[in-house]
Amino acid sequence: MNILTLETSCDETAAAIITDRLEVRASVVASQDELHKRFGGVVPEIASRAHLQRILPVIHETLQQAGMSLDDLDAVAVANTPGLAGSLLVGLVAAKAICVAQNIPLLAVNHLQAHIYACRLAAAPQEVFPCVGLIISGGHTSLYRCLGPLDFEMLGATIDDAAGEAFDKVAMMLGLPYPGGPSIQKAAASGNPKAHAFPRSFIRDDQRLDFSFSGLKTAVRYSIAGPGRTDFTSIDLKPQQVADLAASFQEAVVDVLVDKALAALRKTELHMLCVGGGVAANARLRKRLQSAADDAGVQLHIAPLRLCTDNAVMGAIAIERLNAGLTESLDLDVYPGVIRRGPR
Ligand code: KG4
Ligand code: ZN
Repeated sequence: MNILTLETSCDETAAAIITDRLEVRASVVASQDELHKRFGGVVPEIASRAHLQRILPVIHETLQQAGMSLDDLDAVAVANTPGLAGSLLVGLVAAKAICVAQNIPLLAVNHLQAHIYACRLAAAPQEVFPCVGLIISGGHTSLYRCLGPLDFEMLGATIDDAAGEAFDKVAMMLGLPYPGGPSIQKAAASGNPKAHAFPRSFIRDDQRLDFSFSGLKTAVRYSIAGPGRTDFTSIDLKPQQVADLAASFQEAVVDVLVDKALAALRKTELHMLCVGGGVAANARLRKRLQSAADDAGVQLHIAPLRLCTDNAVMGAIAIERLNAGLTESLDLDVYPGVIRRGPR
């Protein structure tokens, strides 16, 4: 069977064709980074318009890459939660239109669960469930107890900024280009991670599996502008100052993510950790997670770099739903918010 998977939850327009044996026949990602760059973050209205312009060419290119036509498709899967409402809608209506035209089933994909499923794809044929799932992206930072590919329960989440959002905002303060994660990682390479003692929220509270990055962001701001001051537009940072701030910020985020992932493993008594989402591409985090997992005797699966940031290949999770008979009716809607428990 060939399943077309669509992903438009945020600012990547992506499509892939996956077989029911998890083979990737084609994958196309059209990034909108260039459009959002000058705003330092994703502008929802611009994102949904760009999806609208790109979705058909992206689907066309995906079919071409696979050497297939619409007639070769057996189902269409689409990310319908969580994400930006207008962006999700573009993928959903495109998916519905193909399902109607071709008379094939529609499948729903939970974008966060798909980020964890990227680990399953990379590890196959090795099983990754049951595991603790850590999802760290531009829009979300959350921990899940994942008993199976369709059985996720949220253990905790950020109460303010997502980890990737903090990277993007701090990069902007440091005058580094968007997206902030890769540019902070690059600047941090020549910086001292101990130069600034930035806060690590909730780190001593093992029972609380939530995250908070907004205090950290403010601490960086005060380090640039001076205590209590927020306006630093006229302050010119030297390259070494930028590097030290970037390295100290990155280390604080990494400390918190590693600490909370380990706390979740202790709490759930699970011995497998799967990590996905754009921030999982961070080299320092990958290294620290690996040594923490080795010390704790935990098996670690981090999504491969090409599957960390948004893509449609991870929509292969829809095959689990197809196998479980969980197809959708054509009145399927988008759910922009996070669903804390259940198969969606
Ligand atoms: O998963 P993703 O593509 O989109 C969402 O679902 O949000 O994640 C994008 C986020 C951005 O905030 C970006 O700055 C961050 O992932 N990111 C990184 C790195 N590469 C991307 N953060 C830290 N280090 C990186 N190397
Ligand atoms: Zn994502």
